[in-house]
Amino acid sequence: MGGHAVAAAPAGPSLQALAQRSGRNFGTAINAVRAPQESVLDAQYTALCRQECGVLVAENEMKIYGLRTGYDTFDFTRADKIAAFAKEAGLALRGHNLIWARPQYMPKWIKDHDFGAQPASAAGAWIDNHVKTLMDRYQGQITSWDVVNEAIVPETGAYEVTTLAQAMGGTLEMIDYAFRAARAAGPKVELVYNDYMGWENGSATHRKSVLKLLEDLRKKGTPVDALGVQSHLDGSPVDEREWRRFLDEVVGMGYRLIVTEFDVRDGNLPADLALRDKGVADAGKAFLDIMLSYKQCGDVLAWGLVDTYSWLQGFGRRKDGQQVRGCPYGADYQAKPLREAVAQALIHATPYQGAAKA
Ligand code: XIL
Repeated sequence: MGGHAVAAAPAGPSLQALAQRSGRNFGTAINAVRAPQESVLDAQYTALCRQECGVLVAENEMKIYGLRTGYDTFDFTRADKIAAFAKEAGLALRGHNLIWARPQYMPKWIKDHDFGAQPASAAGAWIDNHVKTLMDRYQGQITSWDVVNEAIVPETGAYEVTTLAQAMGGTLEMIDYAFRAARAAGPKVELVYNDYMGWENGSATHRKSVLKLLEDLRKKGTPVDALGVQSHLDGSPVDEREWRRFLDEVVGMGYRLIVTEFDVRDGNLPADLALRDKGVADAGKAFLDIMLSYKQCGDVLAWGLVDTYSWLQGFGRRKDGQQVRGCPYGADYQAKPLREAVAQALIHATPYQGAAKA
């Protein structure tokens, strides 16, 4: 770490204080694996978390590939590091995620596993153990878990299919099973299906399939409490009509909403810093204004507080090679216009009224 910048939230109420006014928490992802520096070990990053946040989420450390070392084994070192920091700082913790339904995120040892003559019961036992081990370990600390992540192929609307799902007799069966296992392990924990459907062109298929999935889960009586809206924006203006139509259907089925992974890609915005930061802030504000107009929408979590640590530096690269500026704070740890946009959206939020009322 070369810089001497000192992290500083702007004067005035923190984002968490503003979120609390409407009964919500504001928070961020934090990581313990990013080279060369882990944000959980960065004193400036953790100082900002303490100043601005009420809740944290581990960016990778609780995923199957983040803590499972084999079919029967776990390594909790990194996940525990984050949980310990949250506890010490007095911050809540969300769990992300118990089962990432995409084959590409399943480790080789599970892809290659032979589930035997009774695959559904073998896979079910694996899910039971995985879910229970994680939920038990953070019982009382993690009160909201992403149980299943990204189960739909966005382009086709079909289910993602893993060997685990195949063994269970299908993806819907696997999802249903995982949520029931989670409910058994944590009767009072908020159980979330988390995905990244948006309003953009090409996302209609994704939205439609997520609605169908949520509908099917309702029919089955699957214990799902909320839809996690990842909220990786692309900087384009929100199509309010399309987006509200989707959200209305979700809350109409009795689901709550959470903004689980908010950030803004800036690849389609100009290189000029002022213009770019304004574009990012405007896109973020317009989106959050809609989300926070729903009384059923709960916490807001950014997928990283500071650009330096953002996954967008790898996954959302700009063609001109400049650093992506999709987080509330810049690489100098100073607040950017997006921070003020989040603050304004929180100030104008409809009070949260989470409990699903039929
Ligand atoms: C991303 C992390 O930010 C990266 O560090 C990692 O390499 C890949 O996963 N949707 C999710 C998150 O649910 O878990 C993803 O996080 C971003 C997209």
